[in-house]
Amino acid sequence: MSQAFHTWMKNKQLECEIALANLLPQITVLPERLHEAMRYAAMDGGKRVRPLLVFAAGHLFNAPADMLLRAACAVELIHAYSLVHDDMPCMDDDALRRGKPTVHIKYDEATALLVGDALQAQAFQVLSEGDGDAVAKLSMVRLLAQASGSVGMCGGQAIDLASVGLALDRIQLEQMHRLKTGALLRASVLLGAMSGKKLDEKELQALDAYAAAIGLAFQVVDDVLDATADSATLGKTAGKDAADNKPTYVSLLGLSASKQLAEQLRCDAHDAVEVFGNQAQLLRDLADLVVQRQA
Ligand code: IPE
Ligand code: IPE
Ligand code: MG
Ligand code: MG
Ligand code: MG
Repeated sequence: MSQAFHTWMKNKQLECEIALANLLPQITVLPERLHEAMRYAAMDGGKRVRPLLVFAAGHLFNAPADMLLRAACAVELIHAYSLVHDDMPCMDDDALRRGKPTVHIKYDEATALLVGDALQAQAFQVLSEGDGDAVAKLSMVRLLAQASGSVGMCGGQAIDLASVGLALDRIQLEQMHRLKTGALLRASVLLGAMSGKKLDEKELQALDAYAAAIGLAFQVVDDVLDATADSATLGKTAGKDAADNKPTYVSLLGLSASKQLAEQLRCDAHDAVEVFGNQAQLLRDLADLVVQRQA
Protein backbone atom coordinates (compact mmCIF):
# COMPACT_ATOMS: atom_id res chain seq x y z
CA MET A 1 0.00 0.00 0.00
CA SER A 2 1.45 3.37 -0.98
CA GLN A 3 1.87 6.12 1.59
CA ALA A 4 -0.45 8.37 -0.42
CA PHE A 5 -3.22 5.75 -0.41
CA HIS A 6 -2.72 5.06 3.30
CA THR A 7 -3.06 8.78 4.12
CA TRP A 8 -6.13 9.12 1.89
CA MET A 9 -7.73 6.08 3.56
CA LYS A 10 -7.10 7.34 7.10
CA ASN A 11 -8.56 10.77 6.22
CA LYS A 12 -11.68 9.29 4.67
CA GLN A 13 -12.20 6.86 7.57
CA LEU A 14 -12.02 9.80 9.97
CA GLU A 15 -14.41 11.86 7.84
CA CYS A 16 -16.86 8.99 7.91
CA GLU A 17 -16.47 8.53 11.67
CA ILE A 18 -17.20 12.21 12.34
CA ALA A 19 -20.18 12.23 9.96
CA LEU A 20 -21.68 9.14 11.62
CA ALA A 21 -21.15 10.69 15.06
CA ASN A 22 -23.04 13.79 13.92
CA LEU A 23 -25.93 12.09 12.21
CA LEU A 24 -26.75 9.34 14.72
CA PRO A 25 -29.06 10.58 17.48
CA GLN A 26 -27.26 11.57 20.69
CA ILE A 27 -27.49 9.11 23.58
CA THR A 28 -29.33 11.72 25.64
CA VAL A 29 -32.24 11.59 23.16
CA LEU A 30 -35.14 9.31 24.07
CA PRO A 31 -35.01 6.28 23.91
CA GLU A 32 -31.51 6.63 25.31
CA ARG A 33 -30.68 2.94 25.45
CA LEU A 34 -31.57 2.34 21.80
CA HIS A 35 -29.51 5.34 20.71
CA GLU A 36 -26.58 4.20 22.80
CA ALA A 37 -26.79 0.74 21.24
CA MET A 38 -26.98 2.20 17.71
CA ARG A 39 -23.77 4.12 18.34
CA TYR A 40 -22.19 1.03 19.88
CA ALA A 41 -22.94 -0.88 16.67
CA ALA A 42 -21.96 1.73 14.11
CA MET A 43 -19.17 3.81 15.60
CA ASP A 44 -15.54 3.24 16.31
CA GLY A 45 -14.93 0.05 14.44
CA GLY A 46 -14.68 -1.72 11.15
CA LYS A 47 -12.56 -1.08 8.12
CA ARG A 48 -15.12 1.21 6.46
CA VAL A 49 -14.47 -0.47 3.12
CA ARG A 50 -17.88 0.44 1.71
CA PRO A 51 -17.51 4.19 2.42
CA LEU A 52 -14.00 4.05 0.94
CA LEU A 53 -15.47 2.59 -2.24
CA VAL A 54 -18.03 5.40 -2.35
CA PHE A 55 -15.29 8.02 -2.02
CA ALA A 56 -13.02 6.34 -4.58
CA ALA A 57 -15.78 6.01 -7.18
CA GLY A 58 -16.91 9.58 -6.51
CA HIS A 59 -13.36 10.76 -7.15
CA LEU A 60 -13.70 9.55 -10.76
CA PHE A 61 -16.38 12.14 -11.48
CA ASN A 62 -15.54 14.94 -9.03
CA ALA A 63 -18.65 14.23 -7.01
CA PRO A 64 -19.65 16.96 -4.52
CA ALA A 65 -18.31 16.25 -1.02
CA ASP A 66 -21.64 16.51 0.82
CA MET A 67 -23.46 14.00 -1.40
CA LEU A 68 -20.52 11.62 -1.26
CA LEU A 69 -20.39 11.71 2.52
CA ARG A 70 -24.13 11.04 2.71
CA ALA A 71 -23.81 8.05 0.39
CA ALA A 72 -20.79 6.80 2.35
CA CYS A 73 -22.70 6.98 5.64
CA ALA A 74 -25.76 5.35 4.08
CA VAL A 75 -23.90 2.24 2.91
CA GLU A 76 -22.01 1.96 6.20
CA LEU A 77 -25.26 2.19 8.18
CA ILE A 78 -26.82 -0.58 6.10
CA HIS A 79 -23.68 -2.64 6.59
CA ALA A 80 -23.63 -2.04 10.36
CA TYR A 81 -27.29 -3.07 10.56
CA SER A 82 -26.58 -6.24 8.56
CA LEU A 83 -23.77 -7.18 10.98
CA VAL A 84 -25.96 -6.69 14.07
CA HIS A 85 -28.64 -8.98 12.63
CA ASP A 86 -26.09 -11.44 11.19
CA ASP A 87 -24.68 -11.97 14.71
CA MET A 88 -28.04 -12.61 16.40
CA PRO A 89 -28.85 -16.07 17.80
CA CYS A 90 -31.42 -16.68 15.04
CA MET A 91 -28.69 -16.18 12.43
CA ASP A 92 -24.96 -16.83 13.06
CA ASP A 93 -25.19 -16.59 16.86
CA ASP A 94 -21.90 -14.76 17.30
CA ALA A 95 -20.63 -13.16 20.51
CA LEU A 96 -17.77 -11.03 19.12
CA ARG A 97 -17.81 -8.27 16.51
CA ARG A 98 -15.24 -5.59 15.80
CA GLY A 99 -13.37 -6.68 18.91
CA LYS A 100 -16.35 -6.12 21.20
CA PRO A 101 -19.30 -8.18 22.48
CA THR A 102 -22.06 -8.25 19.85
CA VAL A 103 -25.06 -5.98 20.34
CA HIS A 104 -27.45 -8.69 21.56
CA ILE A 105 -24.85 -9.78 24.14
CA LYS A 106 -24.01 -6.28 25.35
CA TYR A 107 -27.68 -5.20 25.35
CA ASP A 108 -30.36 -7.79 24.53
CA GLU A 109 -31.94 -9.46 21.51
CA ALA A 110 -34.88 -7.12 21.13
CA THR A 111 -32.53 -4.15 21.26
CA ALA A 112 -30.29 -5.73 18.62
CA LEU A 113 -33.29 -6.24 16.36
CA LEU A 114 -34.34 -2.62 16.79
CA VAL A 115 -30.80 -1.30 16.36
CA GLY A 116 -30.68 -3.01 12.98
CA ASP A 117 -34.08 -1.69 11.99
CA ALA A 118 -33.24 1.85 13.08
CA LEU A 119 -29.82 1.92 11.42
CA GLN A 120 -31.43 0.81 8.19
CA ALA A 121 -34.04 3.56 8.39
CA GLN A 122 -31.33 6.10 9.20
CA ALA A 123 -29.42 5.05 6.08
CA PHE A 124 -32.30 5.97 3.80
CA GLN A 125 -32.92 9.18 5.71
CA VAL A 126 -29.35 10.44 5.31
CA LEU A 127 -29.28 9.52 1.63
CA SER A 128 -32.48 11.41 0.94
CA GLU A 129 -31.50 14.60 2.79
CA GLY A 130 -29.19 17.44 1.79
CA ASP A 131 -28.70 19.40 -1.40
CA GLY A 132 -28.36 17.78 -4.77
CA ASP A 133 -30.58 16.84 -7.64
CA ALA A 134 -33.77 15.22 -6.31
CA VAL A 135 -34.17 12.89 -9.31
CA ALA A 136 -30.60 11.64 -8.97
CA LYS A 137 -31.14 11.07 -5.26
CA LEU A 138 -34.29 9.09 -5.92
CA SER A 139 -32.30 6.77 -8.19
CA MET A 140 -29.72 6.39 -5.45
CA VAL A 141 -32.35 5.54 -2.84
CA ARG A 142 -33.82 2.95 -5.20
CA LEU A 143 -30.43 1.42 -5.88
CA LEU A 144 -29.60 1.11 -2.18
CA ALA A 145 -33.03 -0.40 -1.48
CA GLN A 146 -32.55 -3.04 -4.17
CA ALA A 147 -29.04 -3.86 -3.00
CA SER A 148 -30.20 -4.26 0.60
CA GLY A 149 -33.43 -6.17 0.09
CA SER A 150 -34.58 -9.63 -0.93
CA VAL A 151 -32.82 -9.54 -4.30
CA GLY A 152 -29.66 -8.23 -2.61
CA MET A 153 -28.13 -8.58 0.84
CA CYS A 154 -31.20 -9.97 2.64
CA GLY A 155 -31.73 -12.49 -0.14
CA GLY A 156 -28.12 -13.62 0.20
CA GLN A 157 -28.51 -13.98 3.94
CA ALA A 158 -31.64 -16.09 3.41
CA ILE A 159 -29.74 -18.40 1.06
CA ASP A 160 -26.82 -18.54 3.53
CA LEU A 161 -29.12 -19.67 6.36
CA ALA A 162 -30.94 -22.17 4.17
CA SER A 163 -27.64 -23.67 3.04
CA VAL A 164 -26.24 -24.81 6.38
CA GLY A 165 -25.03 -28.37 6.03
CA LEU A 166 -25.60 -28.41 2.28
CA ALA A 167 -22.90 -28.87 -0.35
CA LEU A 168 -23.60 -26.00 -2.74
CA ASP A 169 -22.06 -26.19 -6.17
CA ARG A 170 -19.83 -23.42 -7.43
CA ILE A 171 -22.62 -21.56 -9.23
CA GLN A 172 -24.89 -21.63 -6.19
CA LEU A 173 -22.11 -20.52 -3.86
CA GLU A 174 -21.15 -17.65 -6.15
CA GLN A 175 -24.78 -16.55 -6.33
CA MET A 176 -25.04 -16.53 -2.53
CA HIS A 177 -21.83 -14.51 -2.13
CA ARG A 178 -22.79 -12.03 -4.84
CA LEU A 179 -26.03 -11.31 -3.03
CA LYS A 180 -25.07 -11.33 0.63
CA THR A 181 -21.90 -9.29 0.22
CA GLY A 182 -21.43 -8.30 -3.41
CA ALA A 183 -24.69 -6.40 -3.74
CA LEU A 184 -23.82 -3.77 -1.11
CA LEU A 185 -20.27 -3.38 -2.40
CA ARG A 186 -21.65 -2.85 -5.90
CA ALA A 187 -24.08 -0.28 -4.54
CA SER A 188 -21.20 1.51 -2.80
CA VAL A 189 -19.28 1.86 -6.07
CA LEU A 190 -22.31 2.96 -8.06
CA LEU A 191 -23.60 5.38 -5.41
CA GLY A 192 -20.19 7.05 -5.30
CA ALA A 193 -20.15 7.46 -9.06
CA MET A 194 -23.79 8.54 -9.24
CA SER A 195 -23.07 11.26 -6.68
CA GLY A 196 -20.98 12.84 -9.43
CA LYS A 197 -22.99 12.31 -12.59
CA LYS A 198 -25.63 10.26 -14.39
CA LEU A 199 -23.62 7.31 -15.65
CA ASP A 200 -23.54 6.42 -19.33
CA GLU A 201 -23.71 2.80 -20.45
CA LYS A 202 -19.95 2.43 -20.84
CA GLU A 203 -19.19 3.86 -17.40
CA LEU A 204 -21.86 1.72 -15.80
CA GLN A 205 -20.50 -1.42 -17.46
CA ALA A 206 -16.94 -0.73 -16.35
CA LEU A 207 -17.93 0.04 -12.78
CA ASP A 208 -20.25 -2.95 -12.67
CA ALA A 209 -17.46 -5.27 -13.80
CA TYR A 210 -15.14 -3.78 -11.16
CA ALA A 211 -17.78 -4.08 -8.45
CA ALA A 212 -18.66 -7.66 -9.41
CA ALA A 213 -15.00 -8.65 -9.08
CA ILE A 214 -14.32 -7.01 -5.73
CA GLY A 215 -17.77 -7.93 -4.38
CA LEU A 216 -17.10 -11.63 -4.86
CA ALA A 217 -13.44 -11.28 -3.84
CA PHE A 218 -14.46 -9.66 -0.56
CA GLN A 219 -16.51 -12.65 0.59
CA VAL A 220 -13.98 -15.19 -0.75
CA VAL A 221 -11.34 -13.49 1.40
CA ASP A 222 -13.78 -13.35 4.34
CA ASP A 223 -14.17 -17.14 4.02
CA VAL A 224 -10.37 -17.60 3.82
CA LEU A 225 -9.75 -15.39 6.86
CA ASP A 226 -12.43 -17.22 8.84
CA ALA A 227 -10.42 -20.39 8.30
CA THR A 228 -6.90 -18.98 8.70
CA ALA A 229 -6.83 -15.95 11.01
CA ASP A 230 -7.38 -15.81 14.77
CA SER A 231 -10.26 -14.15 16.60
CA ALA A 232 -8.07 -11.40 18.09
CA THR A 233 -6.89 -10.33 14.63
CA LEU A 234 -10.34 -10.58 13.06
CA GLY A 235 -12.23 -9.01 15.97
CA LYS A 236 -14.84 -11.73 15.39
CA THR A 237 -14.97 -15.45 16.13
CA ALA A 238 -12.59 -17.31 13.84
CA GLY A 239 -13.38 -20.80 12.56
CA LYS A 240 -17.09 -20.14 12.80
CA ASP A 241 -18.00 -21.20 9.24
CA ALA A 242 -16.61 -24.72 9.62
CA ALA A 243 -18.04 -25.04 13.14
CA ASP A 244 -21.48 -24.08 11.80
CA ASN A 245 -21.20 -26.22 8.69
CA LYS A 246 -21.60 -23.27 6.32
CA PRO A 247 -20.79 -23.73 2.67
CA THR A 248 -17.85 -21.43 1.86
CA TYR A 249 -15.22 -21.07 -0.84
CA VAL A 250 -12.77 -22.76 1.51
CA SER A 251 -15.05 -25.78 1.97
CA LEU A 252 -15.74 -25.98 -1.78
CA LEU A 253 -12.34 -25.25 -3.33
CA GLY A 254 -9.87 -25.50 -0.46
CA LEU A 255 -7.59 -22.74 0.81
CA SER A 256 -5.08 -22.49 -1.95
CA ALA A 257 -7.60 -22.37 -4.83
CA SER A 258 -9.68 -19.83 -2.90
CA LYS A 259 -6.66 -17.55 -2.53
CA GLN A 260 -5.89 -17.98 -6.23
CA LEU A 261 -9.45 -17.05 -7.11
CA ALA A 262 -9.24 -13.90 -4.97
CA GLU A 263 -6.03 -12.92 -6.75
CA GLN A 264 -7.66 -13.52 -10.14
CA LEU A 265 -10.60 -11.32 -9.12
CA ARG A 266 -8.17 -8.59 -8.02
CA CYS A 267 -6.69 -8.61 -11.53
CA ASP A 268 -10.18 -8.60 -13.08
CA ALA A 269 -11.03 -5.51 -11.00
CA HIS A 270 -7.91 -3.73 -12.23
CA ASP A 271 -8.73 -4.59 -15.85
CA ALA A 272 -12.29 -3.37 -15.49
CA VAL A 273 -11.30 0.20 -14.60
CA GLU A 274 -8.51 0.56 -17.13
CA VAL A 275 -10.79 2.80 -19.20
CA PHE A 276 -10.65 5.44 -16.45
CA GLY A 277 -6.85 5.66 -16.49
CA ASN A 278 -5.06 7.34 -13.60
CA GLN A 279 -8.29 8.62 -12.12
CA ALA A 280 -9.09 5.05 -11.04
CA GLN A 281 -5.95 4.56 -8.94
CA LEU A 282 -7.95 4.69 -5.70
CA LEU A 283 -10.26 1.95 -7.00
CA ARG A 284 -7.22 -0.16 -7.91
CA ASP A 285 -5.72 0.40 -4.46
CA LEU A 286 -9.00 -0.62 -2.87
CA ALA A 287 -9.16 -3.83 -4.93
CA ASP A 288 -5.69 -4.64 -3.58
CA LEU A 289 -6.81 -3.84 -0.04
CA VAL A 290 -9.89 -6.07 -0.31
CA VAL A 291 -7.82 -9.04 -1.44
CA GLN A 292 -4.63 -8.53 0.58
CA ARG A 293 -6.21 -7.57 3.91
CA GLN A 294 -5.39 -9.61 7.01
CA ALA A 295 -8.67 -8.92 8.85
C1 IPE B 1 -17.91 -8.42 7.35
O1 IPE B 1 -17.68 -7.23 6.66
C2 IPE B 1 -19.15 -9.07 6.82
C3 IPE B 1 -19.09 -9.41 5.41
C4 IPE B 1 -19.88 -8.88 4.55
C5 IPE B 1 -18.13 -10.39 4.94
P1 IPE B 1 -16.39 -6.35 6.92
O2 IPE B 1 -15.16 -7.24 6.89
O3 IPE B 1 -16.39 -5.20 5.99
O4 IPE B 1 -16.60 -5.86 8.42
P2 IPE B 1 -16.10 -4.54 9.13
O5 IPE B 1 -17.02 -3.45 8.72
O6 IPE B 1 -14.68 -4.27 8.71
O7 IPE B 1 -16.22 -4.84 10.60
C1 IPE C 1 -22.42 -11.98 6.42
O1 IPE C 1 -21.45 -12.89 6.06
C2 IPE C 1 -22.52 -10.90 5.51
C3 IPE C 1 -23.52 -9.93 5.98
C4 IPE C 1 -23.55 -9.45 7.20
C5 IPE C 1 -24.51 -9.49 5.05
P1 IPE C 1 -20.72 -13.60 7.26
O2 IPE C 1 -21.67 -14.18 8.22
O3 IPE C 1 -19.67 -14.46 6.71
O4 IPE C 1 -20.01 -12.32 7.96
P2 IPE C 1 -19.10 -12.44 9.26
O5 IPE C 1 -18.02 -13.41 8.94
O6 IPE C 1 -19.99 -12.86 10.38
O7 IPE C 1 -18.56 -11.05 9.41
MG1 MG D 1 -23.62 -14.82 8.19
MG1 MG E 1 -21.59 -14.04 10.40
MG1 MG F 1 -17.70 -14.69 7.43
